[in-house]
Amino acid sequence: MIDLHAHVLAGLDDGPKTWEAAQAVWHQAVQDGTHTIVAVAHANDHHFDVPADAYRAALDKARQTLAAEQIPLRLVPAMEVRLGSDLLEGYQSGRYLPIGDTPYLCVELPPNDFPAYTLDMLYQLTLEGLRILLIHPERNRGIRRRPELAERLMRMEILGVASAGSLLGQFGPEVEAASMDLMERGLIQSVASDGHSVDKRPMRLSPIRELLCRRYGDDETEWMMDEVPQLVLAGRPVALEPRQRLGWRRWLTARR
Ligand SMILES: [Fe+2]
Repeated sequence: MIDLHAHVLAGLDDGPKTWEAAQAVWHQAVQDGTHTIVAVAHANDHHFDVPADAYRAALDKARQTLAAEQIPLRLVPAMEVRLGSDLLEGYQSGRYLPIGDTPYLCVELPPNDFPAYTLDMLYQLTLEGLRILLIHPERNRGIRRRPELAERLMRMEILGVASAGSLLGQFGPEVEAASMDLMERGLIQSVASDGHSVDKRPMRLSPIRELLCRRYGDDETEWMMDEVPQLVLAGRPVALEPRQRLGWRRWLTARR
C-alpha cells in the first residue's frame, strides 16, 4: 500500500522524537503492508516550521538507515504546509517541498477557521502549476460548518485526503461524520494514516481498507487506496467525478 501522509522522520515535528522511535514506526508500516510513504513534516505551522535543509538531512539519514537495515520501505519527500497568507511566497522561495518530483503540494488548513483568502490562495497556487492535496479537510471547522465549501474546493480540482483516525472516530463523532459526509460530496478521494507514532496515531491502513470495503465495496476501495495514490505519485491528475456512495448513516452500521 501507499501511505499518502505520515510523519516518520525523527526530531522534526510532532512525529517520532528519536530514530529508534522512527524505526518502530517504519516496521509497523511494513508489517501492515505499506511499501511507500509520503514522509511529511510540518511547515508554516505555529509550532513547527521545518526548514527545507533540515528536512532533506533527516530524509537522507532515514533512507540510509532503511537501506542499511534492509527495510523494504520507500520514502517520498513532501511537506505538510499550513495555509497562511505568505504560502505562495514561501513556495516560490523553495521553502515548501511538493511531493517528490510531482506538482502535488500537501496543504493543511488551520483547524478552527477557514480564512477568507483560502480559495484565492489555493487558486494562486494552481496558477503556479501546482495541484493541491488538502490534508484532513474533515478536521477543519469551517468546512464542517459550511459544507458548500467542499463543493467549491472540488470544482477547483482540489483533492482531499482524510486521516485514518478521523474515520475511526479518534477525533470525535463530529469529525467522523464530517469525513463520511465529505467523502459522499466528493471532496475526499483517499485516506492516509497520518501516522505519528506506533501507539497514539499508528501507521495502520489495513483497518481503513476493511472499513471502506465493507462500506463501498472492492472497486471503490481500490480506487481510493491504490489508484488515487498511484496517480498522485506519478504526478498525474485524478478525475473527480461524483462517486456513488452510501449515505453516511449506513456507515455506522458498516463499522460494526
Ligand atoms: Fe500530518
